[in-house]
Amino acid sequence: MFITLEGPEGSGKTSQVPQLAKYLRDLGWDVLTTREPGGTDIGDQIRQVLVSMENKALHPRTEILLFLAARAQLVEQVIKPALAEGKVVLCDRYADSTLAYQGYGHGLDLPALRSMLQFATDGLKPDLTILLDLPVEVGLSRKKKEDEWNRLDAYEVKFHERVREGYHILAGEEPARWKTIDASQPREVVQENLRAVVLLSLQNQSLIADSSN
Ligand SMILES: Nc1ncnc2c1ncn2[C@@H]1O[C@H](COP(=O)(O)OP(=O)(O)OP(=O)(O)O)[C@@H](O)[C@H]1O
Ligand SMILES: [Mg+2]
Repeated sequence: MFITLEGPEGSGKTSQVPQLAKYLRDLGWDVLTTREPGGTDIGDQIRQVLVSMENKALHPRTEILLFLAARAQLVEQVIKPALAEGKVVLCDRYADSTLAYQGYGHGLDLPALRSMLQFATDGLKPDLTILLDLPVEVGLSRKKKEDEWNRLDAYEVKFHERVREGYHILAGEEPARWKTIDASQPREVVQENLRAVVLLSLQNQSLIADSSN
């Protein structure tokens, strides 16, 4: 089962993954966690270019190609092999980030982005995508406080508002795949909600697998 975490900056994706993975492993699931952009040696080098404050001149089209390059590598080198081994793959951001940030945020052509995503991911889609949703100012102020500011956060607040709205549209288009969690809650509550949503999906997936055997 392929699970992705999405949501605006500072919504808690990266900080929630380790505990969620541990919880699932304790229940006996074989879990692989990874993150975007990055997750491979090549992808991590690309990530450095993307987040560096030095690279303010990076054009949105260059940016998207770098994201897609990192993702193609991650899909082939990490995600596909893990899924083939029956693992649960938890990925911190994936293709929907491209639609939300480059599509809704930067206003790049959505159909063109979708076909590039199809190419980069070889058509691999998540079974479950969790939207950690919260007001933009809340997420950005969390990151500022922790001094975790990077080039991608430094876009104007309006950009981040468009991204959040984009996530709402994407989740509305595919309600069977998306589950939304209120990420402005205390971290323990967000973690509990995450566990409940993932467990339910894993159980449903197992039932489907059983009934087709
Ligand atoms: N529920 C919460 N309440 C308060 N602070 C939180 C909560 N969740 C996460 N944080 C803090 O907010 C900051 C950002 O969290 P985190 O890095 O997990 O977000 P993220 O969704 O991965 O952000 P990005 O999209 O930028 O990667 C961290 O310092 C984290 O400790
Ligand atoms: Mg993160």
